[in-house]
This record gives sequence, C-alpha cells and structure tokens, in this order.
Amino acid sequence: MSSTPPPRTYRVKSFGCQMNVYDGERMAELLGAQGITPAPDGEAADLVVLNTCHIREKAAEKVYSDIGRITKEWGRKDGTAPLIAVAGCVAQAEGEEIMARAPAVSMVVGPQAYHRLPAMIAEAVQGRRSVDTDMPAETKFDALPARRKVGPSAFLTVQEGCDKFCTYCVVPYTRGAEVSRSFNDLVAEANTLIEAGAREITLLGQNVNAWRDDRGRGLEKLVEELAAIPELARIRYTTSHPNDMTEGLIEAHRDIAKLMPFLHLPVQAGNDRVLKAMNRSHNVASYLAVLDKVRAARADIALSGDFIVGFPGESDAEFEDTLRLVEQVGYAQCFSFKYSPRPGTPAATMDDQIAPEVMDERLQRLQGALNTSQLAFNQASVGQRCTVLVERRGKLAGQWLGKSPWLQSVHFSGDAAIGDLVEVELVEAGPNSLSAKLSQPVHA
Ligand code: 5AD
Ligand code: SF4
Repeated sequence: MSSTPPPRTYRVKSFGCQMNVYDGERMAELLGAQGITPAPDGEAADLVVLNTCHIREKAAEKVYSDIGRITKEWGRKDGTAPLIAVAGCVAQAEGEEIMARAPAVSMVVGPQAYHRLPAMIAEAVQGRRSVDTDMPAETKFDALPARRKVGPSAFLTVQEGCDKFCTYCVVPYTRGAEVSRSFNDLVAEANTLIEAGAREITLLGQNVNAWRDDRGRGLEKLVEELAAIPELARIRYTTSHPNDMTEGLIEAHRDIAKLMPFLHLPVQAGNDRVLKAMNRSHNVASYLAVLDKVRAARADIALSGDFIVGFPGESDAEFEDTLRLVEQVGYAQCFSFKYSPRPGTPAATMDDQIAPEVMDERLQRLQGALNTSQLAFNQASVGQRCTVLVERRGKLAGQWLGKSPWLQSVHFSGDAAIGDLVEVELVEAGPNSLSAKLSQPVHA
C-alpha cells in the first residue's frame, strides 16, 4: 500500500447496540479533535470508520459487504479509495481475518483501543496497515476529548463487558470482563453532556445494573447523584440482567422521579430447561419475581426484553412456554432474534441445532405475540397525560417527535422546540407510536 494524503473528512457508521452508537459518537469527536470534519451527506469521505457488531452472524457478515460497497461508492473525487477503519466487536473478534480478507482495510481497532485511532491513521497515511485489539489498562475514556454537542437524549457508557457467559453470546469474548467506570468520571461526563445540550441521559452497559464503583456503590447511587443535577430531567439505563436487579435499584424506581418508568430486562426464553442450557442463571419464576418487585415499586413501569428463538434443542413445547410468558408479562416493547451460532461460544457446537424454517416460523409467531402486546400497552396509555422530551421534527409541517416516560415514540403538533419537555395528552395509539395533543408548553 502506498502513501495517501491525510484524511480531511470522515464518516462513522455504527451498527448494533447503543454502546456502539456511543462509541461511534466518541470516535467522531476524536476525529473532529484532529481537524477531520464530517463528510457532507451523500459525499465521499476520505476516511470511513465501520463500527461493527458481532452479536449475530448477519451483523458480522455485513462488514465485508460494506467494505466492498464503500470502496466502490464512497471513493474520493480524485478516484482514490478512502481509508477504511474497521472498529467495534467484529474488529475485536476477527482482526487478522479482516486484514487477510479485505485488503482495502488499513486499520482494525477493537472497542477498547479506539482512542489510538489518530496514531493508526498516521500509519495508514504512510501506507502501513495496523491492527490494535488490545484491552489496555489505561482507559480509552481518559484519552478521549471532552463532549461538545449532543442531542437532548444522550448516551453515557458506565460499564463495559460481561462476566455472565451465556452459552450463545460473544460479548464476554469481544468486550471482555466487566469493568465499571469511576463514579467521579461519570458524574463529570454527565455534566459535560448536560452542558452540551442533554436533558435525558441513558446509562449504558452490557450489564449496566452490575455497575459498581470501588467503594461498592451500585447503580442507584449514580442515578441518585445525577438526579440531583437540576438541568437533567430524565435518567434511563440499559441493558440489565435479572440477577443484578438489586433491592436498591428497584427502590430507586420508587424514590427517584427522574428515573423513567422503563426497564429493559432480557429473559431470552420462557422455559427453565432452555434457560439452564443458555447458562442464564435465572429461571422463569425468579425472573417473574423480579418483575413483581419492580412493579410493586413503580406500578406503571413499562417492561421490555430480548428473546432468542431456536436455541439448540428447543422443542415446540419449550417454545410455547416463551409465548405464554409474553402473554403473562404484557411487554411494552421487545427485541426478538433467531438463534445464530457464534464461533467460540459453547452453544455453537451443541447438538440439535434447529432447522432455519423452524426458527423462521417461531420468530414469526413470537413477533406476532410481541406486536399484540406492544399495541395493547400503547392503547392502554391513551387518555394519559405525560411529558414528552422533544427530540426532532416530524415529517409533517409543525409536527414534533419525542419520547414518553415509557419510551414510546410520540408525535404532536404545536409550539415546541427540540429539547423541550412538553406536557401532552396521549390521544391515539398505533403499534409503534402514539399521537398526542399538547397541553402546556414548558420551554427549556
Ligand atoms: N443469537 C441470537 N441472538 C443473540 N443475542 C445474543 N447472542 C445471540 C445469538 N448468538 C441477542 C440476545 C441479547 C441481544 C443483545 O442479542 O437476545 O440479549
Ligand atoms: Fe451476552 Fe449473557 Fe452477558 Fe448479555 S448477560 S452480554 S447475553 S453473556
């Protein structure tokens, strides 16, 4: 590879979870601090960062088709190809393989090493390819530039990695062991987010409710501290594990008004044998017991979850148990996936892998049940008065889009601005959103 001019414009494309969205924003800020600017929409970029997801096969394969497309479509005006960096979990898991399979890629950087991108770009400009999948002791967070401009609803990664080792999941391998960021660093970053325009902060982690600081303080203490910041209106957190739902965090849903009534608590399956084979370390009864406690603390809490259909060995009857659980819980919204064997995970080599057509059929039935549940939840909200945090303009003139406390998408028309917290009455429900009438504008 010969030398290329230093990149002047960049594009960061993030796939997968919200933690990747957060990392993508931080990489963009890092590039910005180097004087590299975002490529205007539709225009070629000098540097493309693909921030990838490895959680399911389809997501992982996408990176290779994207590399092909970028070299063709996003080339520079002078006909040379852009520099391509592959970041994220595919980078971590398949670093050397990417280098071998995709000669157009000049940098591969794992999720714990992306603060080193500027040095890698300098190498790439000299025509040298580099791979950095270290999980260095020095934290990337210390090396990243401060936050500057964010939307009304911002993400804040508080914890990374996972020690649970569910048998289907690559996260413990790609993101490593659980590491919590320090209390003081998080409060400081939250303050910069608020100064940069955030009115809502979602605390992120693969196992966010396992967050602990070196004094043993749990997530509820961080929530309490953030709730005391007057300019911050709302706090959320995701994703949680049922076994880490402590009494303290459950009580925070009762005691801290700024903690929104929404809980994403994946169960994955509704059958105890399957949950055991998944190494979930909870069963259906213990999961339901957690939900009961949470509901006792905050009666209107909206529940969400993740489901996998077609885990190896899952029988028809065991799948039916999942449908029954969905009916029993009454979820507000959920994600559901076909099981995807991931290299290196115990489940990938288990007997009785399920045929694709059986998975298709199960996913369809499960999604039907989840859609019914979501619509019922939305319909039950009609008539409620609540606040909406305005996040953007709607498609129609004068229309605004935002989120209810229960994380429903809400649209309304009237006098408002992005970042306002307005009071509305929910008037009509669809499966994916609600329409509302403005009651009383409360400008920021
Ligand atoms: N196959 C299908 N879905 C998976 N998930 C994690 N690993 C796999 C896999 N191998 C799902 C789980 C998890 C969500 C983030 O992705 O439901 O909660
Ligand atoms: Fe993966 Fe299980 Fe950890 Fe979630 S709890 S990240 S599914 S290993």
